[in-house]
Amino acid sequence: MENLIYLDNAATTYPKPQSVYDFMHEFYQKNGVNPGRSGYDMCMATEEIIYSTRKSLTRFFNGTNPNRLTFNYNASDSLNMIINGLVEKGDHVITSNLEHNSVLRPLYHKEHDGTIDVTYVPFDEKGYIDPDDVKKAFRKNTKLVILNHGSNVIGTVQSIAEIGKYCREAGILFAVDVSQTAGVIKVDVRAMNIDIVAFTGHKCLMGPTGIGGLYTGENIEIRPTRFGGTGVRSAQRFHLEEFPYRLECGTLNIVGVAGLLAGQKWINEKGLENIHKKEIELWDKFRKGLQMIDGVVIYCAEGIENRIPVLSFNIKGWDAGDVETILDVDYKIACRSGLQCAPLVHAQLGTDKIHGTVRLSPGPFNTEEHIDTAIEAVREIVSIKK
Ligand code: ALA
Repeated sequence: MENLIYLDNAATTYPKPQSVYDFMHEFYQKNGVNPGRSGYDMCMATEEIIYSTRKSLTRFFNGTNPNRLTFNYNASDSLNMIINGLVEKGDHVITSNLEHNSVLRPLYHKEHDGTIDVTYVPFDEKGYIDPDDVKKAFRKNTKLVILNHGSNVIGTVQSIAEIGKYCREAGILFAVDVSQTAGVIKVDVRAMNIDIVAFTGHKCLMGPTGIGGLYTGENIEIRPTRFGGTGVRSAQRFHLEEFPYRLECGTLNIVGVAGLLAGQKWINEKGLENIHKKEIELWDKFRKGLQMIDGVVIYCAEGIENRIPVLSFNIKGWDAGDVETILDVDYKIACRSGLQCAPLVHAQLGTDKIHGTVRLSPGPFNTEEHIDTAIEAVREIVSIKK
């Protein structure tokens, strides 16, 4: 939309690189057929793109086996598959107050029906989880630790490698939700001792909505929780056990996969560190600008270390939703307010009582001028109230 200042990249990155739109369009027009079902050229070409994307993302996460890179709809889908495919009656699961409902709700359902016990580890005043708090929560029956890498509300990035090390030592499975970090912060399953990565395609991986997936480490056998067509061994009565079929069924979102491949190319050309550096500089400019305005409260935003470009704030005396609306209507600034699907973050911050926070999240196509406009807009809103 013309003149829109889009600062809601934590919800989804927008726009995507032009090369992603172009590749998806061209691919779908030339090769939009069902992959893996037949041997004709278009079918094979489509299969080829899917395998290339499995390989590229496996490399991206420093995994070892492209067949263990499986596609589904999004991160919520992935996290449901992990929780429902690993946890059994009597298990204990550890998660944190920083989680999105895509982790919390599947866990609440299992907790509610008496299947499992869950420990919710709080974050410290700066927004970080102490790895020792996770370790202290370990029990004999702890099956799974499931945490997000970067918070979608306050932007803090957790000490995943250290937590992963504790889990490895204790023989506990470690799953990480990289929805907000994959594409801006390195996710290395080997260096970070991660067993399973859950990703979505439409955020910093620069693909479209409707595509996401898992990278499942060797020897980790998530039970399939959906059964159906795989295109091979159709006479077999039960769903295939081998990867990637084990965790995929039905026709894949091939145009989504193609978008991810083009996104990979774009990220690799730009360089992860460069993308992050630019976005975090914009974040820091915004933070410093807000800090100069009396009446603005910023949450867990002390510095640029271990951080993704997501900033939550409130204007004293204002409802977060009203601020979002004024930013949209009067300033054409798109952002998100409320609880951002992560209610425990707000419960711990106390912002649940005031309808959450206003969240701004710069992306790769934002400029310093966008940030200047946003700071000025907040300054003007504060002065309306005075
Ligand atoms: N999880 C997305 C967000 O944080 C939708 O806005």
